[in-house]
Amino acid sequence: MSFKIQYASDLHIEFPENGKFLKLHQLQPVGEVLVLAGDIVPFAVMNKHRDFFSYLSDHFEITCWLPGNHEYYHSDITERSGSLNEKIRSNVFLVNNTSMVHRGMRLIFSTMWSKISPAYQWQIERNLNDFRLIRYNGYRFSAEAYNQLHEESLTFIQRELNNMKEENAAVFTHHVPTFLNYPEQYKGDVLSEAFAVELFDLIESSGIDYWVHGHHHTNTPEFTIGSTRVVTNQLGYVQRDEHRQFETDKCIEF
Ligand SMILES: [Fe+2]
Repeated sequence: MSFKIQYASDLHIEFPENGKFLKLHQLQPVGEVLVLAGDIVPFAVMNKHRDFFSYLSDHFEITCWLPGNHEYYHSDITERSGSLNEKIRSNVFLVNNTSMVHRGMRLIFSTMWSKISPAYQWQIERNLNDFRLIRYNGYRFSAEAYNQLHEESLTFIQRELNNMKEENAAVFTHHVPTFLNYPEQYKGDVLSEAFAVELFDLIESSGIDYWVHGHHHTNTPEFTIGSTRVVTNQLGYVQRDEHRQFETDKCIEF
């Protein structure tokens, strides 16, 4: 019997334009599980958006929300990183570097920070808000700490894929797992390493069914690596008109 898992990311409900849009175009409950793949709302202001979490709780059987980079803005990342499985509501979970099995299908969740090389470190640290608005153990967030989070998430995903006993799996990350079909407008951008990391070989050899990601605010059409379908469904910034191809009922099917 087939079933659906619904996904969306980059809702950015902290921005009034996005909040208004989502009130008019609410997520339609069609999937058995809803996965929100990051940049939903910063933890620092999530208490101002209780109505959004009530909506999720009232309309979806299970919601799994994994943090993007923006979740950590104006807070200390060490307070909510590593392996997370935190109950936000009775059926809404904040998840990172953790997995679950739903109907015999392994669902793997990770922010999956990308990897910044020394060549771009200075420019990325200087130009990306992540390094101004996130604290790390009371200090400035750095590329070294960022790359440490990358190693942790990659190790976690590889371990899950190696150890899984289920035949089917989907991986859900915020950051982009390949530069293949990377949005034309960002190709060659010095900040790209803070958005995507090349995991082509890992994906190709994994045999997993889907890899769902967010982060670059471009709804790239679905494509495959090996037998894996790479998909995304990002709202992006409504004010910048990034929301045109967002779907309120997008699902992967098994
Ligand atoms: Fe975003």
